Amino acid sequence: MARIGATPGGGVTRLALSAEDKAGRDLLRQWMVEANLAVGVDDFGNMIGLRAGDDDLPPILLGSHLDTVRQGGRYDGAYGVLGALEVVRRLNELGCRTRHPIAVVNWTNEEGVRFEPAMLCSGAIAGRFERDYVYDRTDRDGLRFGDELRQIGYLGDAAARPTMAAGYLELHIEQGPILEAKQVPVGIVQGIVGITWLDVRLTGRADHAGPSPMPLRRDALVAAARLVTAVDAIARETDGAVGTVGRLNVAPNSINTIPGEVVMSVDFRHPSAEVLEALVGRLRHVAAEIEAGSGVTIVIDRFWTSEPTPFDPKVLAAVEAAANDLGMAAGRLWSSAGHDAKYVQEICPAAMIFARSQDGLSHCETEFSTPDDLVAGANLLLGAALRLAS
Ligand code: HGY
Ligand code: MN
Ligand code: MN
Repeated sequence: MARIGATPGGGVTRLALSAEDKAGRDLLRQWMVEANLAVGVDDFGNMIGLRAGDDDLPPILLGSHLDTVRQGGRYDGAYGVLGALEVVRRLNELGCRTRHPIAVVNWTNEEGVRFEPAMLCSGAIAGRFERDYVYDRTDRDGLRFGDELRQIGYLGDAAARPTMAAGYLELHIEQGPILEAKQVPVGIVQGIVGITWLDVRLTGRADHAGPSPMPLRRDALVAAARLVTAVDAIARETDGAVGTVGRLNVAPNSINTIPGEVVMSVDFRHPSAEVLEALVGRLRHVAAEIEAGSGVTIVIDRFWTSEPTPFDPKVLAAVEAAANDLGMAAGRLWSSAGHDAKYVQEICPAAMIFARSQDGLSHCETEFSTPDDLVAGANLLLGAALRLAS
C-alpha cells in the first residue's frame, strides 16, 4: 500500500479523492474480494468489506482510513485498515466463525487536508455533516468533493452506509511519545481530546515595497506573524493545550509588494471543552488588539469543533480482557490526534488501540513503528474483535 503515493523521503502522499487515493482504494477492494468480503461503497465513498456472521446481528466494524496528509507516513490510517483486513484473513485461515458479522471499513477523507474539516465522512454518516455540505467542500484549486468522488468512481449509495453496527474498534499508531515513555508496545485509548479548527483572514493593503513609508503601511503578513506567535504563546501557557498554525497563504506573495492579504489556519486542542473555549477566546482578544494598532482587519471563521470524546466502557473492557488473555502490557492514554472513532462513537460503542510510534513522530516521512509493535496491536485487535463479535 505504501508504494501508492510513495514520496522520495520514504513517506506517502495519498490525498483524499486523488488518483493515489483511488489506486489505494482499488488495491484494498482487490484484497477485500480475495478475503471473501462483500464490498460495499456508500454515498461518501466509505468502503465496507463485510464478513458474514452466523446470526442476524449488526456487524462489528474494524476500520480506519487510507488517505494521508502531504508527505505523511506509511502507517497513519493504513495500519488500521490493513490490520482489520489481516484479522479477517486470520479468521478465514482458522475457519473461525463469529455470531456478529465483521466489517472492514475505509473512511473517506479522515485527514481533512485536501477537503477540510477532518473525519468528514465518518462525521457524515453520524449525521454531523449534511451530504450537500460534504459534496460542496472544495480543495485549494476549487475542485468540489462531490465531483472528485464521482471522478474516482467511488460515489456509492446511501444504503451502504455502515450506520447499523454493534461496535467499532480502530487500530492506529499512537503518533505521540507516551507509549515509548511507558515502554509498552500498545495502548488502550480512553478517548479523544477536543479539537477546534479556525480559518483566519487578515486584510491589510497591498502597496509598493519601496515608496510606501512604514507608518502608512497596513501589512497583513506582519499582523499574521504576530497572530502566529500568539497562537503558540496561548497554547504554551495553558497546561495540556496545543496550538498550531499549519497552513498560511500570502497574497500577492511578491518580493516587492506589501502583503495585502493573509489566510491562515489555527488548530487548538485540549481534553477539556471549557479550556478549548478559553483558548479561542484568548485568540479573539489578541486579534482585536492586533487590529486596533495595525489597520489590518482580521476575520476569524471557527468552522469545525470536535468535542472531547470518551470511548465506550464495554468496548474498552473487551480490549482490556483481550490484553489480559494475551499477557500483553498495555498503556492507557487519551488521543490528541483526531480519528474517525470520534464520530463512529455516536452511532455505536467504540474504542481504539494504539501501537507505539518511534520517537512519537507522525504526519512526516520518518513516521515509524516496529513490526513487533504493529503485530502486537493487530493481535490485540483480533482478540478484542473476537470478544465483541462472539
Ligand atoms: O488532525 C488530526 O488529528 C488527524 O490526523 N486528522
Ligand atoms: Mn489517522
Ligand atoms: Mn493523520
